[in-house]
Amino acid sequence: MTLIRSEIVGFGHCLPQKVLTNDDLSHMVDTNDEWIRTRTGICTRHISEGETTSDISFKAAQMALKSASMTAQDLDMIIVATVTPDNTTPTVAAKLSKRLEAKYGAICMDISAACSGFVYALTVVDNMIRLGQIKTALVIGAETLSNIVDWTDRNTCVLFGDGAGAAIVRATQGNGTAEDTGILATKLYADGSHYDNLIINGGVSTTRTAGYVTMDGKEVFKFAVNALSQAAETVMEMAGVSSKDVDFVIPHQANIRIIEGVGKKLNLPEEKVIVTVDHHGNTSAASIPLALSENYHAGRLKKGDLVVLTAMGAGFTWGGALVRI
Ligand code: ACO
Repeated sequence: MTLIRSEIVGFGHCLPQKVLTNDDLSHMVDTNDEWIRTRTGICTRHISEGETTSDISFKAAQMALKSASMTAQDLDMIIVATVTPDNTTPTVAAKLSKRLEAKYGAICMDISAACSGFVYALTVVDNMIRLGQIKTALVIGAETLSNIVDWTDRNTCVLFGDGAGAAIVRATQGNGTAEDTGILATKLYADGSHYDNLIINGGVSTTRTAGYVTMDGKEVFKFAVNALSQAAETVMEMAGVSSKDVDFVIPHQANIRIIEGVGKKLNLPEEKVIVTVDHHGNTSAASIPLALSENYHAGRLKKGDLVVLTAMGAGFTWGGALVRI
């Protein structure tokens, strides 16, 4: 049986130059390197100094297009997952379309699903490709969270970082088995009853400000391990594979203890669980595409590898994707 699949043919990423260490933070709020490392696994994070979300997305997009040997003229769609857009409207995708000189008519859309944003965007693109509506898409997760972090709140300011990751997704043919290249399964979830547990507490129609990140850390922690594991297990089951068949899992990079909890629940040895939270912090929608691109270009992720992506964020939203690179 032949069928249309979507494969990822290019990866790119961009991190702002400025690196903020835990020691730097200890001069800003009442915290210390030991507390941050042991509770979160974070050592450093990148912070934008005036670069906007579209600026870092643009660089990540250029790198992804180059790695796919394509130009923006090849794109039928640009989709950006972010909660920190340059403007309330138009979208970051539209700004990229202008800067990349994408072709007339290419669809532009931003998607707001917080830390699950990249998996949500990838799922939308996968479905549009399989329906034959588009052939090639640029999928980005990008954030400048430093703009919505309260730098006087030690409970949150130590956790987040800025960055952008990009993937070029293109239609291909498969035979419907788990040996196919490309996106083999996706599954999205949400539960709005947790609306207030993790929230940026401003907005256009409420405070007319962007607001700051606030959260019930313990509630998020408890939910995250189960949600991330559930999404990963579901996409593996949908494709008829088990964790033994998987080469890597890339969980959303929020906290090392959450990531280790997911690895244990999935019975995966440490070396199969990709960790970037130590040097990226939590970059929300950017965390998975950043990890994908960084590890692909470093040679750790290779063509043919079977990779589980699993994310969870505000909403609560969560979801997974099983991809053969
Ligand atoms: N430095 C020093 N002390 C701190 C800091 C800090 N940066 N932040 C909090 N503390 C203090 C607290 O005030 C508290 O002090 P108290 O007991 O005197 O009141 C103490 O440390 C312990 O706080 P806890 O909340 O019990 O610490 P916990 O072990 O739960 O760790 C953390 C907190 C890291 C936020 C944890 O709850 C967590 O990882 N939650 C998941 C949330 C998360 O990662 N969110 C990111 C966004 S969500 C997402 O991406 C899915």
